[in-house]
Amino acid sequence: MLELIDIHTFYGPVEALRGVTFEVRQGEVVCLIGNNGAGKSTALMTISGIMRPAAGDIFFEGISIKGVSPHRILRMGISQVPEGRRIFPKLTVRENLEMGAYSGRGNAASLLEKVYTLFPVLKERHKQAGGTLSGGEQQMLAIGRALMSSPKLLLLDEPSLGLAPIVTSKIFRTIREINREGVTVLLVEQNARAALKLSERGYVLENGSVSLHGRGEDLLNNELVRKAYLGE
Ligand SMILES: Nc1ncnc2c1ncn2[C@@H]1O[C@H](COP(=O)(O)OP(=O)(O)OP(=O)(O)O)[C@@H](O)[C@H]1O
Ligand SMILES: [Mg+2]
Repeated sequence: MLELIDIHTFYGPVEALRGVTFEVRQGEVVCLIGNNGAGKSTALMTISGIMRPAAGDIFFEGISIKGVSPHRILRMGISQVPEGRRIFPKLTVRENLEMGAYSGRGNAASLLEKVYTLFPVLKERHKQAGGTLSGGEQQMLAIGRALMSSPKLLLLDEPSLGLAPIVTSKIFRTIREINREGVTVLLVEQNARAALKLSERGYVLENGSVSLHGRGEDLLNNELVRKAYLGE
């Protein structure tokens, strides 16, 4: 479904991605794990078109999306939940969700009902300003907003960041549910254990390139991964 081939992405002189190659197959949950600064967020932003790669190619459903605008990539069915949530704090929950529908994919009213079913708390609080929600609820809102474009591929950047373990579990359960309903998921996480448990396959990013990949289960048992990313 998605294929990155030897992608190089720079911030000015800083080469954040140094030849990244990986793929996500339709229906999978795939995770990218790696330390701070490894290039995880840059990889997601390069896929969603926010960052433009200097070299390499990216294919989505067989079509090159290298250099395509973020808006068109969204319309093609790739939606990103950015790191740090970035909801609109002054808009209501419902308005935040409606902002996500501007891509015009799918029917906004039925998508809104689907999001409310997935996250009943958002329905209860639909008139409340986004900024007054708890951290976990804001993450739900950010995911809900991304779902309002009816994506085929959902990119999630550290959905568990700063959340209590119980809230993290709820978010991870919901990601699984979203995937079961047919959305392919590419998940970036510092919480490597939870991410690998949820994922069919995982890639380890180190210094802007993939150092290791495999089935989620196998990476959980990999000695290097256990030492470097699972705190053992
Ligand atoms: N706006 C920027 N300007 C210059 N360099 C940047 C910028 N954003 C990121 N970088 C650099 O690019 C590299 C990759 O950063 P990136 O944010 O993709 O890492 P990450 O794996 O998402 O890290 P984290 O786990 O902290 O979110 C880092 O070395 C970082 O310092
Ligand atoms: Mg990041």
